[in-house]
Amino acid sequence: MNVYGAPSWARARKVEMDQHKEKPIANGTHNLADEDLTRAVLASFAHSKSERFREVVQSLVRHLHAFVSEVQLTEEEWFKGIDFLTRTGHITDDKRQEFILLSDVLGVSMQMIGINNKRPTGATESTVFGPFFVEGSPRYANGDDLANGAPGEPCFMHGRVLSLTGEPIPDADIEVWQSDSHGFYDVQYEGLSEARGRGHLYSDEEGRYYFWSVRPVAYPIPDDGPVGELLDAANRGPMRPAHVHFMVKAPGYKTLITHIFEEGDQHLNSDAVFAVKSSLITRFERHEPGTAPDGKKMDVPFYTMSYDFILAPAEVKDRHNS
Ligand code: BEZ
Ligand code: FE
Repeated sequence: MNVYGAPSWARARKVEMDQHKEKPIANGTHNLADEDLTRAVLASFAHSKSERFREVVQSLVRHLHAFVSEVQLTEEEWFKGIDFLTRTGHITDDKRQEFILLSDVLGVSMQMIGINNKRPTGATESTVFGPFFVEGSPRYANGDDLANGAPGEPCFMHGRVLSLTGEPIPDADIEVWQSDSHGFYDVQYEGLSEARGRGHLYSDEEGRYYFWSVRPVAYPIPDDGPVGELLDAANRGPMRPAHVHFMVKAPGYKTLITHIFEEGDQHLNSDAVFAVKSSLITRFERHEPGTAPDGKKMDVPFYTMSYDFILAPAEVKDRHNS
């Protein structure tokens, strides 16, 4: 409270209103319905402080009004929607982001990635980031085992980081994160503080990278919250096909955020977050015990996966579709 007895936020609000030059809305705001209502709401944003804000919010209003009108939304449905969004907010905290998950299952994340990551033909395609990346992963050398005890079938992953013209890119920073054979990321285990199936390494002078980890498996996205209810109501599954996440950074090149998917996975055509691109599917080849490509003697069956990352130069503007 301030000396006038009004809470300080109320006084601040009054000053704000006095300073604000309110402009009358074209055609007024009374007795409006249907298209007149939409027009009035659009007009109320006409003098927004930022042109981009105006463009985005007016478009949002246009689409929201069209949606409500198209489906003839009932009051009960409106309340259900509000309740759904409220619960989506309540379950979200610093560890769980249900709104991004909602964006993912609605295909909005992939649509946005497509718009913002157009690359020249030949460059490796991007896909969703997902919620399981952790900043500051351990550093490994080529040949090391990133699994660090994560359960699973051993898998040797290798390839090169190249430019569009096939030049090797040395010293590219390659971040890797993946699920174990139970379909869990290290961060999903309560009480586990060390990184497993997660780390970063650098490409060598010839652009090569190679490391050991485990073969990824398909797993469900977190489906015990509102997004799970949405999938259930739609008779949709929560599964993501087996994949390994990569983020590849090199000076002078656009950062690439992508996954490599295992060929033949039964969920490749029903990914809960629509993130599969054919160019990102590759073979995980099974081998009997014996000598691995890096000379390591394996006394259990193992897998190999090979994939070259082609980076787009940072300065190339979005001229072609990815
Ligand atoms: C993931 O691959 O880690 C992921 C991506 C989107 C939603 C949930 C999980
Ligand atoms: Fe993932």
